[in-house]
Amino acid sequence: ARVHLIAAARPNFMKVAPLWHALSAAPDFTPVLIHTGQHYDANMSDAIFADLRLPAPDHHLGIGSGSHAEQTGRVMIAYEAVALADRPDWLIVVGDVNSTAACALTGTKLGIPTVHLEAGLRSRDRAMPEELNRLMTDVLVDVLWTPSPDADANLAAEGIPPERVTRVGNIMMDAFELSRPAILAADHAGALGLAAGGYGVVTLHRPSNVDDPAQLARLVQALVAVQARLPLVFPVHPRTAARLESAGLTARLEAAGVRLVAPASYVRFMSLVTGAAAVITDSGGIQEETTYLGIPCLTLRDNTERPITISEGTSRLVNATTLEGALETALAEPKAARRRPDLWDGHTAARCVADLRERTAAASAAG
Ligand code: UD1
Repeated sequence: ARVHLIAAARPNFMKVAPLWHALSAAPDFTPVLIHTGQHYDANMSDAIFADLRLPAPDHHLGIGSGSHAEQTGRVMIAYEAVALADRPDWLIVVGDVNSTAACALTGTKLGIPTVHLEAGLRSRDRAMPEELNRLMTDVLVDVLWTPSPDADANLAAEGIPPERVTRVGNIMMDAFELSRPAILAADHAGALGLAAGGYGVVTLHRPSNVDDPAQLARLVQALVAVQARLPLVFPVHPRTAARLESAGLTARLEAAGVRLVAPASYVRFMSLVTGAAAVITDSGGIQEETTYLGIPCLTLRDNTERPITISEGTSRLVNATTLEGALETALAEPKAARRRPDLWDGHTAARCVADLRERTAAASAAG
């Protein structure tokens, strides 16, 4: 069977890569890799493709940046042309970015059996563009692959028939395991003059944190305070770099000694994370990766669509006011042997392929 796999933005690539490798190795599937081009900078895209040993995409839609409607609309128009010319047996979309929802709507309207990997996550915060993408995608698709029991419960509560849902686990762990030797060999922290266990990693990019200059200034102040206690390295997302610059805050971080670096490739970034004492972030995926690695994660958000990273993991929700205290608490805690959530084990891609095979067989038996 021919499978369209949609990759769009940085957080998608580590979800698509394990699946692409597993489908390529399967005799009964042919993956077709489609990059919408939502992220296009070399260090947001190409470097990560290389790290994850993904080939050049079969199709590159070259969408680029724009308003939400522009970006979503351009992906729909461009993907529709590809889907009509190269009708796949399955379409798989991952995560919660604009391209995810755009391709889900396009594919399902063309009657292409469509799967969402990382279905069922809910922050219940409709001010988050990703929450709207998650809701829209899950209501449309035919098959929902979930990472955790909370996701199954969310879908059941929304009336999604259980036979459409398969809990496959968390595919991000597969990406980590595929790259583990390279990650452990990288020592990106050492190259920045930081000792293992003696620094923190920061990432910020959510509109709710970086678009309002007053909120961004509060966060910068909190990071400057933390830097006095724990040296910080901050790979800066392009959106955040622009906002820091226009708010005149870049210099304040630099003057405090925060190491501002370009967005890191996957292997370099995970090498930084594996050696960190703690991570400070507003990312979704990093809450999961730190949980897997048992590294404290201070999550700069009011809510999370990944509550299992709090109940069973290492994440805690913080704000500019509570960050410093929460970091002290986290650093003082003995590094307990933590339980990883069920099915976060590096074998999710294999479960996805098995489920797809079963569903392909059931569909052809049904005629
Ligand atoms: C997108 C996703 C978000 C994900 C994030 C990871 C949506 C709604 N949001 O948000 O869920 O967590 O990616 O990074 O889909 N830019 C560049 N180079 C790039 C990409 C973007 O310079 O390669 C610039 C854009 O021009 C824009 C800003 O960065 O000014 C934001 O990019 P965009 O992809 O629109 O949204 P993200 O904030 O990255």
